[in-house]
Amino acid sequence: MKAAVYYRANEPLSLEELELLEPQRNEVTVRIEAAGVCHSDLHFIDGLLPHPTPAVLGHEGAGVVETVGEGVTYVQPGDHVILSFIPSCGQCPYCIAGRPNLCTVGNRAAVRGTLLDGTTRLRKGEQEIYHMTCTSCFAERSVVPESSLVRIRDDMPLDRAALIGCGVMTGVGAVINTAKVQAGSVVAVIGCGGVGLNVVQGASLSGAVKIIAVDVSDFKLELAQQFGATHTVNAATDPDVVGAIRQLSPGGADYAFEVIGRPEAMRQAYDATRRGGMAIVVGLAPAGAEVSIPAASFLQEKVLTGSSYGGARPRIDMPKLIDLYLAGKLKLDELISRRYPLDGINDAFQALREGEVARSVIQFQVEG
Ligand code: APR
Ligand code: ZN
Ligand code: ZN
Repeated sequence: MKAAVYYRANEPLSLEELELLEPQRNEVTVRIEAAGVCHSDLHFIDGLLPHPTPAVLGHEGAGVVETVGEGVTYVQPGDHVILSFIPSCGQCPYCIAGRPNLCTVGNRAAVRGTLLDGTTRLRKGEQEIYHMTCTSCFAERSVVPESSLVRIRDDMPLDRAALIGCGVMTGVGAVINTAKVQAGSVVAVIGCGGVGLNVVQGASLSGAVKIIAVDVSDFKLELAQQFGATHTVNAATDPDVVGAIRQLSPGGADYAFEVIGRPEAMRQAYDATRRGGMAIVVGLAPAGAEVSIPAASFLQEKVLTGSSYGGARPRIDMPKLIDLYLAGKLKLDELISRRYPLDGINDAFQALREGEVARSVIQFQVEG
């Protein structure tokens, strides 16, 4: 099968023919129909985060189940699925407590670049190729753990379903699950790319009355308005982001989200939050980065928290997001700026780097 292989940081992905081994116990082969191009993949490609190499990246995908390994009961061939990039074991204290996004079982595999049993299913000749987050969807097919799958309605278009696998779940979930934004609130969103736009629309869905979008790109700020932003701040021309937010919301925002992965912007989100308000970090920072806050501000009783995968309970939340989309209450079409074949994946990453797109989708050929 054709796949895009990551060999070294700061080099283009290499398009190659790979061998995909059979699914083992509790594993499933999925034919990938669409994969979103997210900034987290770019963090690896640009060398900001380490990853075992060579590897097939891609963690925002959807497709159709092709074959199932021994012991699989959740899906059967032909089922439409979204890949969740945090598999949930169902048995650890986090899974039992209803917080599967914190399940540590998948994390170990993700760090090693393997599936859950510590081995890989990707080969180039004799050479072993690593997986990313048990998803590796920049390839025509992927073998994934059953616990990484979310079964979805057949009438949901798979290109838009793919986006729910990361950006939409992460953004909307940060608002609904992590922050639990109250109707009538003032929300600031710093960084309005593929994930940040979903924070904006999550705030809109939650009934926020003022939504202040911050970005360095007018293109993104215009999109943010389409997604429900009521005010915009261009941080390139107006570097006093905190002042601008506080001017629009005296005393500070009820909730401020950082959706870039920059420590400076995390601090801005904290500073822009009112006493007793909440700052939520969604962005993934480079390895080793730190952020500091004024110690005296603790008495303002602000809550500073992270949000991983939008606090997702994937098999509950993702089907709900699909229902919202099909009911006309969630925007997904507007997120897709461009579509590329797998061969165009390096162009898609360049466009993301240049800030030209909200999301690009890699669309795979439908086979006979
Ligand atoms: N101030 C405001 N906005 C900024 C700044 C800045 N200093 N620098 C960059 N931005 C904006 C970009 O213009 C872009 O619109 O942040 C946005 C980032 O969006 P994308 O590149 O589309 O990234 P996305 O896929 O949304 O991911 C955002 O969330 O999941 C994590 O790893 C991901 O850390 C990344 C973050
Ligand atoms: Zn992502
Ligand atoms: Zn678990």
